[in-house]
Amino acid sequence: MENIDWENLGFGYIRTDCNVRTYWRDGKWEPLTVTGDENINMHMASTCLHYGQEAFEGLKAFRGADGKIRIFRADENAKRMIRSAQYLMMQAPDVDLFVEAVKKVVLANEKYIPPYGTGASLYIRPLLIGTGAQVGVKPADEYMFLVFVTPVGPYYKSGFKPIDVIIDRRHDRAAPHGTGHVKVGGNYAASLLSGDLGHSKGYPSVMYLDAKEKRYIDECGAANFYGIRDGAYITPKSSSVLPSITNMSLRTLAADMGLKVEERPVDVAELATFEEAGACGTAAVISPIGSVLDPEENKTYRYGTEAGPWSVKLYEALRGIQFGLREDTHGWNIVL
Ligand code: PLP
Ligand code: COI
Repeated sequence: MENIDWENLGFGYIRTDCNVRTYWRDGKWEPLTVTGDENINMHMASTCLHYGQEAFEGLKAFRGADGKIRIFRADENAKRMIRSAQYLMMQAPDVDLFVEAVKKVVLANEKYIPPYGTGASLYIRPLLIGTGAQVGVKPADEYMFLVFVTPVGPYYKSGFKPIDVIIDRRHDRAAPHGTGHVKVGGNYAASLLSGDLGHSKGYPSVMYLDAKEKRYIDECGAANFYGIRDGAYITPKSSSVLPSITNMSLRTLAADMGLKVEERPVDVAELATFEEAGACGTAAVISPIGSVLDPEENKTYRYGTEAGPWSVKLYEALRGIQFGLREDTHGWNIVL
């Protein structure tokens, strides 16, 4: 694709050749179809439009140093979509159908996978929506599962340079027994206002605290939080955090490197004790955190203007596996 400036890609939508779709109708998923149509034709009373029956996923395909295509941990995204669907009483594709759709759309859009060495990748966006019509508040009887792809560069403009984060105590994205642990559109709608407030003050990411006590760290925008202290990788355990597949992978890699791994409630006061901090996710990869401002407490926690040594090691280990530079000892990649 000679008209794509791979090195300078941001995180946005670029049209590709096709997407893959299927409908749940009459108690089963129909065969997958491949279409160049970017639009969805649906009933005006579809439950996704009125009652938020919507779940999505985000994963990536990489062009490796050896020219091969690698898709990272698609089975985990499939399992998370199933959990999201269960919470919203939606039908979900099983792991095999999910992975089949992902492979199909990646192969059909192979020319949009950014070349090795550009740092860019192909973002894969599976989407599940209730398309059946209802006016009463109840689950739809028809669902659409769609997967599209788009080539992306870094989520934060700074790439692997540290980002500044601001704590927002005035807005909650999710409640302790709400939908924070599943990947549903409503959580993102609930984060738009605080995200915008953060951006307008110059902060690319907002840190949410637990909604009940405002005492423990939940997560950072669309990414999980980790801190490094005394040879430990420490990350929040909370019922309102999305279980990040990147974070799960980093916990494994951290343990491989000899770090102690702690997944537990993390008091916001601990921000003062971390040697390094970072935000992690499919889109964010690892975004080191340079500082966290707590405006209400009038405090700023600083972690330096460059990524710390453990964040660099973790980043290199993760990217190494994704781009085929390091042995995939945990069997995370689907190699096409
Ligand atoms: N937290 C939220 C709210 C997210 O939207 C995401 C992105 O998917 C993550 C964390 C990171 O999850 P993952 O590593 O599975 O992409
Ligand atoms: C991801 O990391 O895949 C996300 O979902 C982040 C965001 C674009 C919603």
